[in-house]
Amino acid sequence: MKITVIGTGFVGVVSAAVYASFGHTVVGLDIDEKKVASLIKGKVPFYEPGLEELLLEQQATGNLSFTTSYATAVANADIVIIAVGTPSTPEGKANLSYLYAATKSLSKYLKEGAIVVVKSTVPPGTLSGVDEILAKTATVGYELASVPEFLKEGTAVYDTLNPDRVVIGATKKHVFEILSELHRPLNTTVIKVSPESAQMAKYAANAYLATRITFINQIADLCEHNGSDVQEVITAIGPDKRVGGHYWYPGFGYGGSCFPKDVKELAYYSRTVGEGHNLFNKINELNSERIDRLLLNYAEKIGGWKGKHVAVLGLSFKPNTDDMREAPSTKVIPWLAENKATIVGFDPKAGDAAKTVVADSGLKVVTSIKEAVKDADVIIALIEWDEIVAFDYGATKLDKKQFFIDARNQFNPSIITKWGYEYLGVGRE
Ligand SMILES: NC(=O)c1ccc[n+]([C@@H]2O[C@H](COP(=O)([O-])OP(=O)(O)OC[C@H]3O[C@@H](n4cnc5c(N)ncnc54)[C@H](O)[C@@H]3O)[C@@H](O)[C@H]2O)c1
Repeated sequence: MKITVIGTGFVGVVSAAVYASFGHTVVGLDIDEKKVASLIKGKVPFYEPGLEELLLEQQATGNLSFTTSYATAVANADIVIIAVGTPSTPEGKANLSYLYAATKSLSKYLKEGAIVVVKSTVPPGTLSGVDEILAKTATVGYELASVPEFLKEGTAVYDTLNPDRVVIGATKKHVFEILSELHRPLNTTVIKVSPESAQMAKYAANAYLATRITFINQIADLCEHNGSDVQEVITAIGPDKRVGGHYWYPGFGYGGSCFPKDVKELAYYSRTVGEGHNLFNKINELNSERIDRLLLNYAEKIGGWKGKHVAVLGLSFKPNTDDMREAPSTKVIPWLAENKATIVGFDPKAGDAAKTVVADSGLKVVTSIKEAVKDADVIIALIEWDEIVAFDYGATKLDKKQFFIDARNQFNPSIITKWGYEYLGVGRE
């Protein structure tokens, strides 16, 4: 099949390369000329493990190309997949302007019978907005579908090649058939539902995961009052099959490019339909205030942040990505700066990106953990990159009182304590 993917961000590049690897002819399109120029040269403009190798491999087969031209990309496409961003507006609503702009741009080049697939995360009902725009310009018949994406940054290539399921939202039999055929090499369960259910399922999945994080954070906060250890609590609740031992991350709250914006959209949507008295608004509120709360709490334990040298380890929103969108560091660093701490940051991949994102905070970014911790009064292990978890902090212990904040409960408290640090985790002594 001839496939065009519009938007060559995290989702777009991965999807384009994976569809190309199935033997389809794929064109990736973006309005960002720099991004496209880089992709044409075989360079992925962000860090995602394994993606550049796949990109180069597929470019070499001739199955995968990139362009900024809608005319070139859309005119021959059997399937046009839209994977542009849908960030939050200030009120928390999903901003659909990129989606609608892309729809408008592609509308005049569609070929007869092409299927326009919305892969971006969009609120239920969005396909009618897409249809309205297409109907104004398109001179041919076309079909619409919604195929939400469930990949995780950091493991995006693996996730796309090994999905737990593919959800296809459509209304016509032949559209289900063509899109099922497209995903056949994945050998996974294909769930066929209405476009609205597919869109709602994406929000439900992300909101559920955000709820788990918020829930265990609430439990962790209670553990702090009674000497229980949230990690032991997780071990004790996990074997119950109704609960499960997976996906428990007590810490500084959820961040990243998806959970915050998707929970906000669900909260916004619920308010607009008169269902605002609900969990989603509360989760959003609890998560938004979490970092402030924790840092204030730690302030008491460390004797205040003022004048402290703080090493912040892990600046991206999670390991194995350089994505800084809603990364905890973007709240932690300005907060510390405002509270008169001196901050040195380290990240295996996101150092440069962090410099731009938290530019005004006086953050000094260094290129090794050793350099980051060399004067530290407080070490905050914020993100669990392997390199950060495996580092020998015993070898860098200074001859002064030092606190070690384990923001993701990744360390063994007794080892950190044995090395001479005051260990401070989340929901554990
Ligand atoms: N990043 C993730 O982990 C993830 C996972 C699942 C779903 N999603 C969803 O997928 C969508 C894309 O997310 P992302 O992280 O890949 O976004 P991104 O910001 O990394 O990339 C979006 C790309 O779209 C391009 N773009 C914007 N307007 C355009 C237009 N009119 N024509 C062509 N290109 C245009 C931008 O230049 C950018 O390169 C979002 O709706 C997101 O919620 C993301």
